[in-house]
Amino acid sequence: MAAGRGRGKVILLGEHAVVYGARALAGALDRGAEATAVTASRSQLKLPCWQVSAQPKPEGEALERAFAGVLTSLGATQVEVEATPYLPSAAGLGCSAALGVAIIRAVAAHLGTRLSLDTLRELAAQWDGCFHGRASGVDTAAASGEGIGLFSRATGWQTLKTPQALHLAIGHSGSGSSTAEQVARVAEAKAADPAGVDGLFAEIDALVGSASEAAQAGDTAALGEAMNANHALLEALSLSTEGLEALRAACLDEGALGAKVTGAGGGGCLVALAEDAAHATRLSARMARIAEPAFATHVA
Ligand code: PMV
Repeated sequence: MAAGRGRGKVILLGEHAVVYGARALAGALDRGAEATAVTASRSQLKLPCWQVSAQPKPEGEALERAFAGVLTSLGATQVEVEATPYLPSAAGLGCSAALGVAIIRAVAAHLGTRLSLDTLRELAAQWDGCFHGRASGVDTAAASGEGIGLFSRATGWQTLKTPQALHLAIGHSGSGSSTAEQVARVAEAKAADPAGVDGLFAEIDALVGSASEAAQAGDTAALGEAMNANHALLEALSLSTEGLEALRAACLDEGALGAKVTGAGGGGCLVALAEDAAHATRLSARMARIAEPAFATHVA
């Protein structure tokens, strides 16, 4: 049976500004999605854990369109795909991109087609576009990439060499968020005050620059400070929520080096930078007392 995997992602700094060309610092997560593909009398995509199945329909709902796009681009017919996400959806962790990459890889493997990384990313961007509207491509770059990457629309994903793994705790605020809606809200804010929002984006880009230098130098204290400063700028764009602030306060109280909204915001997840693996476990346990799921992880 042909199989494929895609990774989730965590944005350490730079979300939203990255849509407008600024840089983002992100990590590819071990957690992601898996898919298998087999021959069947008619093509179908099944997601048993969400009790969802979809036929390929170019004019259909987002999932039907996305699946149709993959099959058409790869020239696949009569293929049944079963996919499993291991990430919460609508949480800022790139669940849909991870699913897309897993499904594209499974279908390509089923056909015996070798995909270049560029083609994989192009198809994944097409998939993700069905769900997210205007997307920077950071999700699909991480889903098909590895390590810690500095990403921009212009340069794509550049894996950074860091002297040590970054230990993180990620907690869900208990409410989901739609990336398309949050991206649209930021676009409205930018239309209302172009100079002000461009100024915030420039500050975020500068923080990403100093954070990536800190990450490469192993200076986790400076990285944490940059994450906190980035959170304040996201808050200024009204992207934090009470639930996210409660998680953030708990993490800072527990000694997190930095803690911020990750992904689209307006709900979804918080990411906290820990001293080491044991500290990340303590931070995630503390967040799990407030809302679930929460987990400790690392990017390297
Ligand atoms: O919420 P997610 O995992 O889709 O991340 C969104 C990140 C944004 O910068 C808000 C949008 C994008 O496409 O980069």
